Amino acid sequence: MISVIIAAAGQGKRMGVSMNKVFLPLAGKPVLIHSVLAACSLPAVTNVIVTAAAEEVDTVTQMLTKFNLPAYWKVVTGGSERQHSIANALKAIPESAKIIVVHDGARPLATTAMFEQAAAAARKHQAAIVAVPVKDTIKSASADKIVTGTPDRRTLWAVQTPQAFDADLLRAAYHQAEQDGYLGTDDASLVERLGANVAIVNGSYQNFKITTPEDMQFAEVLFAERQEVGQV
Ligand code: CTP
Ligand code: MG
Repeated sequence: MISVIIAAAGQGKRMGVSMNKVFLPLAGKPVLIHSVLAACSLPAVTNVIVTAAAEEVDTVTQMLTKFNLPAYWKVVTGGSERQHSIANALKAIPESAKIIVVHDGARPLATTAMFEQAAAAARKHQAAIVAVPVKDTIKSASADKIVTGTPDRRTLWAVQTPQAFDADLLRAAYHQAEQDGYLGTDDASLVERLGANVAIVNGSYQNFKITTPEDMQFAEVLFAERQEVGQV
C-alpha cells in the first residue's frame, strides 16, 4: 500500500499574488488538484495526506471534497518550513503504509509514470527521486559572488518530486533530522544523512515547480497540448 503526502502549506511568495499559488486556476482546476490527481492516478495509492497552512485547512478541505478523489484523504496543518509540514503529515500516515511518496502541490505536471517508477524504484532501493540532468553549467560561489568551483555537469541532477521511500526509512530519517536540528531542502537529503542509497528515476523538464508568474503561462500551454492529445 502506498501513502502520498502532498505539500501545500507554503505561501507562494515568489508568485507575488494575494493567494497561495497552489490555489491558482490552471486548465480549469486549481494547481493543487492537478498535483493530487496525478498522485491518485496510481491505483496502489490508497491514502493521501495534504498539508495546508492553519488558516487554509478549510479551503483545502472544501477543494478536495469538491473534486471527489479516488483515494482516502486527509488535510493536516503544515509548519513554518516544508520539512516541518512533511513531518506533521508523517504522523497521519497509517502504520500499514509500506511506501510513502512525497510530492509538491506546486508540481501539477507530474505524470502517473513518474509516480509508478518512483514507487517501483523505492521498493527496490528503499529510496528514489525523480530528477533531470542539469542543462546549464553550475558554479559554486562565495557570498560576494566570486566563483569557487565548477562541479562536473555530468554528475549533476536537478531534483523534482515525486520522491518515494520505504516508510520506515523515511520515518527514521525525519526522526534523526529533528534530533539533529537538520533542515534539508528535499526529503531525500534527510535519508542520505542516514547513509542510505537514493536511486534516481528520470523525470521530465515539464515537471517544473510552479514558482513565478511565467511558470503559470508555460503550464497552461503544456496542459492545452496534453488536452489536445487526450492525455488529461
Ligand atoms: N510547502 C509546505 N510547507 C511550507 C512551505 C512549503 O507544504 N512551510 C509546500 C508548498 O506549498 C509547495 C512545496 O512545498 O507546494 C514547495 O515549496 P515552494 O515551491 O517553495 O512553495 P512556497 O513556499 O509556497 O513558495 P515561496 O517559496 O515562493 O513562498
Ligand atoms: Mg518556499
